[in-house]
Amino acid sequence: MPAVPAVPAVIPKPARLEATGDEPFVISESTTVVVDGRPDLIGIAVLAADLLGRVTGRSIEVRYADSDAPDVVRLRLTAAEGDADESYRLVSTAGRVELVAKSPAGLVRAIVTLRQLLTAAPDGSLRVPSVIVEDAPRYRWRGLSIDVARHFVAKRDLKVLIGLMAHYKLNVLHLHLSDDQGWRLQVRSRPQLTRLSSSTSVNGDPGGYYSADDYADIVAFASARGVRVVPEIDVPGHVNAATHAYGNLTPSGEPTDAYTGIEVGFSRLYADLPATGDFLREVFADVAAMTPGEYVHIGGDEVLTMEPQEYATLVAAASAAVRAAGKKVVGWQEIAHTPLEPGTVVQYWDTRVEPEPFAAAAQAGALFLMSPGKHAYLDMKYDADTVLGLEWAGHIELRDAYEWEPSTLIPGVPAESVIGVEAAIWTETLRDLHALTSMLLPRLAAIAEVAWTVPEDRDWDDFRARIVDQGPFWDRLGLSWYRSPQVDW
Ligand code: ACM
Repeated sequence: MPAVPAVPAVIPKPARLEATGDEPFVISESTTVVVDGRPDLIGIAVLAADLLGRVTGRSIEVRYADSDAPDVVRLRLTAAEGDADESYRLVSTAGRVELVAKSPAGLVRAIVTLRQLLTAAPDGSLRVPSVIVEDAPRYRWRGLSIDVARHFVAKRDLKVLIGLMAHYKLNVLHLHLSDDQGWRLQVRSRPQLTRLSSSTSVNGDPGGYYSADDYADIVAFASARGVRVVPEIDVPGHVNAATHAYGNLTPSGEPTDAYTGIEVGFSRLYADLPATGDFLREVFADVAAMTPGEYVHIGGDEVLTMEPQEYATLVAAASAAVRAAGKKVVGWQEIAHTPLEPGTVVQYWDTRVEPEPFAAAAQAGALFLMSPGKHAYLDMKYDADTVLGLEWAGHIELRDAYEWEPSTLIPGVPAESVIGVEAAIWTETLRDLHALTSMLLPRLAAIAEVAWTVPEDRDWDDFRARIVDQGPFWDRLGLSWYRSPQVDW
């Protein structure tokens, strides 16, 4: 009797995955993807055919009709009400694979699971073991924040990272689009931002920016993979690129010099300058108008040269601009020191500070996005020998990225106030895709599991065994990654 093939490891770990012991589904010349002929499903079907086609090396046909024909990957949507419900069911048998979800995003999650379940048999054929998977995420916000300001990340590289995010079922791409060293998004009302402040980067490296068309393309590429874009315009600090482009944002009226170092906290806006309010209103209105997602990030971190009252005034003005443009506000944890509207998302990052203000903000209705520096800042070095990266939040080995619990992270912030988990990668030392993925992989997969899988189902030894399968996958994609000594690769 042929041995039932082992079921490949899935990351993040699904809520339920059971091998039925039946014969596997074998991808053949005639395997097709079948979907109902609805506009919102066509993109999903094409994505499924593309991913399967890329794994199998042949083109997979999509058909838009129901049938009970064998040898199909059937995608079914049971209730399309937005993308909020990402739960899905995957049932594979010898004859067919059924993917069922309540939203297009749920179908994308199912497709990714299918891709991770594919294995090559000794005869070269590709198979899906007979399984039943029932799955849903723990958190609705599972993000990656990418600093494209210190070093620019070209659109084609960003798409590779979005593909990786989708592969680990992450659903929010947070782009840190502006900082002291560069401005990376074309903004209609302020053309000088990219004209004068996009060519710089840390260390005098080349800069760059996303045109409005590039940004729309990134948003669409991400959306097709169930990933929403949250743009961040960092104010009222980290603004040297803005004050370099527009001198009317400084008290002297003179533009500041371009900056290519890596200090923080020196640049700032001024609440009493007439240009400041217009800048906040118009820039956030433009960015909101370019963004279909419901959130815009206002930054708010590390403003080291401003009195608390002026800081609060500027955070309130930025927040009002975002809300006036019809979006919800996200900001780094420092904004918790100012009065916040209920529903504002506070992104926790610096674990060295007292927790009381966060508990008070949660009481007042703020939600918390967990990006603790010592677990989720994936630009931190793995150990003292890591060449790239920083170490102000410590070293983060794979186990450190995996073993932490978001719901009890901040004393006094209740579990219900935690909206999700976000990894972050800052690019002071990271100049290209090779550098980025060498820091993200394997740790991004660990953070993805923290965000997706309930704590009762998470176990370091089990994860450590499952992550082994990912190495050959990253190799096939030609990506650099870190061979953590904590794993038997
Ligand atoms: C931050 O790391 N300054 C948010």
